[in-house]
Amino acid sequence: MYINPKWRVLTVGDGDLSFSASLLKYHQPQQLTATIYDSKVCLQEKYDDNYYQQLQQENCQVITGFDVTDKNTWGTLKQHSFDVVIFQFPLLPAFSSKQAFQAQCETSSVNTLNRALLRQYLVNCFAYFLNEKGAQLALITSKNVKPYLQWDIEKALHRNTDINYIGRFTFDISKFPGYKVRNVNRNKHVKSTQGTTYIYSLKSLDTCKTMFDSDSTEYITYNLKSRIPVQKTCQICRTGAFASERDKLMHLATKKHQQMFDYDQQWTNYLQHESINQLSAANNEAGSNNE
Ligand SMILES: C[S@@+](CC[C@H](N)C(=O)[O-])C[C@H]1O[C@@H](n2cnc3c(N)ncnc32)[C@H](O)[C@@H]1O
Repeated sequence: MYINPKWRVLTVGDGDLSFSASLLKYHQPQQLTATIYDSKVCLQEKYDDNYYQQLQQENCQVITGFDVTDKNTWGTLKQHSFDVVIFQFPLLPAFSSKQAFQAQCETSSVNTLNRALLRQYLVNCFAYFLNEKGAQLALITSKNVKPYLQWDIEKALHRNTDINYIGRFTFDISKFPGYKVRNVNRNKHVKSTQGTTYIYSLKSLDTCKTMFDSDSTEYITYNLKSRIPVQKTCQICRTGAFASERDKLMHLATKKHQQMFDYDQQWTNYLQHESINQLSAANNEAGSNNE
């Protein structure tokens, strides 16, 4: 992961804060604000607060109980003041009970809920966290295995927004000594599997490419337009080129494709409801302004 020392960095959902502590020590950004979803008490119970203490000693702002989807939890965070926001290995918080799980998943699958969390993260990064004159980058690092790969991170999250998906690079954990990827609800750390960091910006791909090409040594796979004709590919599974129509039909009949197709349908329905809700909220607001 490339961190320019001039950047002001915000980390989101950083389990035990070991990522932020390592980032501060080994990459030395101009400024770091670290946030965790758990309360301070919960942090102490699950892990311990060594990294919390360490960051505080370095005069780094740490905000606990920070829910990236809920403005009311952002406390003293200085909005519009960051160059880059980083969410490492995001995952919905554990459900508190079977009933809570059933209630949440009554209308949406866990796959849709995870996509929704990441969509809200991206939208809030550009609406509230990033400085419009800064580098304007939102990063998500995720694992290269199921179920994470089924979130269709590169295409689905920013659909119908003005956010651009810029590209991705391999996340090299060895550049973050001391960082332990944490489970959502246990104090064990997760076995390291390969991760990929996905890059988003309101800036164009060309502008971001110029910035990275001049500053970063990281190998980035940019989101360039594919030369393969769309009809020879499966856009939902991001696979192809198929050698023949028969090959494509065989792919469309696979369980893997059917499952991705279902997830995509569920996501499309979710986004339709989201835009209906936004429209009615806007109408309500206009109505109350006219009263
Ligand atoms: C698999 S853990 C990874 C933890 C940490 N980022 C790491 O790399 O070790 C997923 C993290 O996402 C956080 N998370 C889930 N929903 C969140 C939300 N709405 N706002 C902020 N963080 C959230 C959880 O609290 C949890 O720490």
